[in-house]
Amino acid sequence: MNVTAIVPAAGIGRRMEHHSKKPYLLLQGKPLLAWVLAVLDAVPAVTQIVIPVHPGDEQHCQQEVVEPAGLHTPVAIVTGGAQRQDSVRNGLAAVTAECDMVLVHDAARPLVTRTLIEASLAAAQVYHATTVAVPVKDTIAIIDREQHVIEQFPDRARLYSVQTPQTFTRDLLQQAHRKACAEGYSGTDDASLVAWLGVPVAIVPGMYTNIKITTPEDLLIAEALLQQGAL
Ligand code: CTP
Ligand code: MG
Repeated sequence: MNVTAIVPAAGIGRRMEHHSKKPYLLLQGKPLLAWVLAVLDAVPAVTQIVIPVHPGDEQHCQQEVVEPAGLHTPVAIVTGGAQRQDSVRNGLAAVTAECDMVLVHDAARPLVTRTLIEASLAAAQVYHATTVAVPVKDTIAIIDREQHVIEQFPDRARLYSVQTPQTFTRDLLQQAHRKACAEGYSGTDDASLVAWLGVPVAIVPGMYTNIKITTPEDLLIAEALLQQGAL
């Protein structure tokens, strides 16, 4: 198995309301993106890391995050796009010819573990398309369009929060992105694109600690989890 990891890092982090873009925000003094790179670098099957970054941030990412990280794995920084999907598509274009499996993991999930990455890769060898996911804890409601009343309470036993890492055979992910681009389809993540092709995406049990840093309090939670050794 020859795996390329794509780490989407081209967002601006609007919901963080911080002057720095999210991948460069510090967690225990280290940029969020650097946490992810360190974990991926420790996985022998990952032979290439591709990082789509915000247009104009290529050099900043290289000098401030990639070089200080001192990685063994070759890294390619590419220019990201307007939506996450565009960034991943740009990342796919930089994948080496030898690669047969692509793992996608958001720069905004710094608390991923090597175990979770390896579980995602192992499952992808069997199922070809996998995402890490955890059962939702809250009751989830579907509300009406005016957002005033609840229309439906879906059965919680069937509701999962979908995280990254997500791993796919290279051909499948490329096919999904090519078709989505041609037909103007957009999904929030790669699993949704592959599912849209009609291909089943298998669930890999995730960890509640693998949070996505989205709003300012998430960074406090991540600091606390690290301090308590909760990983
Ligand atoms: N991302 C990306 N390219 C984009 C948008 C997002 O590569 N055009 C990346 C982000 O950098 C992040 C991941 O996709 O690592 C998940 O996206 P999200 O958490 O939504 O980050 P942002 O889009 O940066 O945040 P926001 O939606 O609050 O602006
Ligand atoms: Mg976003």
